[in-house]
Amino acid sequence: MEVIQIEGGHRVAGEVSVEGAKNSALKLMAATIMAPGTTTLTNVPNISDVHVMGKVLKNIGARIDVVNEHELRIDTAGVDSWETPYHLVAQMRASTAVLGPLLSRFGRAIVAMPGGCNIGARSIDMHILGLEALGVEFEVRHGNIHASAPHGLTGATVTLNFASVGATENLMMASVFARGVTTIDNAAREPEIVDLANMLNEMGAKVSGAGSPVIEIEGVSELRPVEHRVVGDRIEAGTFLAVGALTGEPVTVRGFAPLHLGLVLKKYEQMGISIERGTDWCRAWRDRPLVPTDIQTLPFPGFPTDMQAQTMVLLALAKGSCVITENIFENRFMLASELTRMGADISIEGHHAIVHGVDGLSGTQVKSPDLRGGAALVLAGLVSDGITTFSDIHHIDRGYEGFVEKLASLGARIRRAEIPDDQD
Ligand code: EPZ
Repeated sequence: MEVIQIEGGHRVAGEVSVEGAKNSALKLMAATIMAPGTTTLTNVPNISDVHVMGKVLKNIGARIDVVNEHELRIDTAGVDSWETPYHLVAQMRASTAVLGPLLSRFGRAIVAMPGGCNIGARSIDMHILGLEALGVEFEVRHGNIHASAPHGLTGATVTLNFASVGATENLMMASVFARGVTTIDNAAREPEIVDLANMLNEMGAKVSGAGSPVIEIEGVSELRPVEHRVVGDRIEAGTFLAVGALTGEPVTVRGFAPLHLGLVLKKYEQMGISIERGTDWCRAWRDRPLVPTDIQTLPFPGFPTDMQAQTMVLLALAKGSCVITENIFENRFMLASELTRMGADISIEGHHAIVHGVDGLSGTQVKSPDLRGGAALVLAGLVSDGITTFSDIHHIDRGYEGFVEKLASLGARIRRAEIPDDQD
């Protein structure tokens, strides 16, 4: 079994550069379906989720030329199928991002119902409701969603019950060729939504308002392939800034916009962390005790749920108690029980985690519960005494390129190792 092992207590400081955003790259790849020809994406993260999305595209007839580990040339001229099978959707629920593009290109799509994942049910009812307003008809048969637009797609006003990132993206992409204007009200405002809208407009779409709660899409007749650079990954950046916040030594992160982590950086300053902001870099360090601070996760520009786990590790070592409220996913506190094994004092009550700061953590064997929880536990290992061994590290590889190498470059005593399966 492959594990990560860390010996805590070593000085960790220095500079890392982050890759392109996972949560943008996957959707940009799906959007290439709507622009037959070869689109070049640069600053693409070399992570397993991108490899899965590549399989999804090849499965419907696209050809992908991996120019180098961060540049993909995606030729969708030959896309001749509109079906995304279960085994690919089960590997990565973000495969549902092809729903909008397939409807735009073919007027139909067959996508396996995404299973839940370990952070929640992850239903797509808002995607379906919104697409129905554009004239799409749905039928679920044998675990597959059969979507079709017998009379084509017609622009409409869709008000989302919740500012869902995925629903906003699918609706935006399904609207680019629709007759007339589509308005998405209560749209998600994440920077990855803006990156997708930018690329669609570069391709010839007419999308306005991305980044605000109201996005307008005026239907056009076709999109052209382009070259587009993926926006920097604010969550990977936040994860490394949390390293500087945790160990106290300065960590500088390059390749993203600190503006995309606005509230996180403000909260970190309230927690006693020093932050220096550049236009495409940011530095974090700490020379005083961590101050407990309540956190509520919310859609952007609120505190991002994808930074909740990393911040829980910081608060677990603060001088006092605080409450973390997770409003986005119904089950995203799983790392709390693993952190407790390392000596943290955290109790869960529904959507709230009550965190009582402790003086220190101690190394042991832990399992990565999910992508961000796994990364957060590795951070905890950096400041725990003794050795911490992490299993289920495939979660981490889904969203972090070279996570072990980057931490080692900062001085962490960390390595991947193979241990016999029977050793838990
Ligand atoms: C995206 O997921 C991200 N994933 C998530 O990042 C991120 O946590 C999330 O947005 C919120 O920012 C990708 O972009 C690939 P949502 P998504 O639709 O689109 C519920 C990571 O760690 N919901 O905003 O699925 C849903 O179950 C991942 O990188 C419905 O109930 O997020 C969830 O509880 C994790 N019905 C909440 O809303 C729907 O139709 C937020 O979902 C849609 C969503």
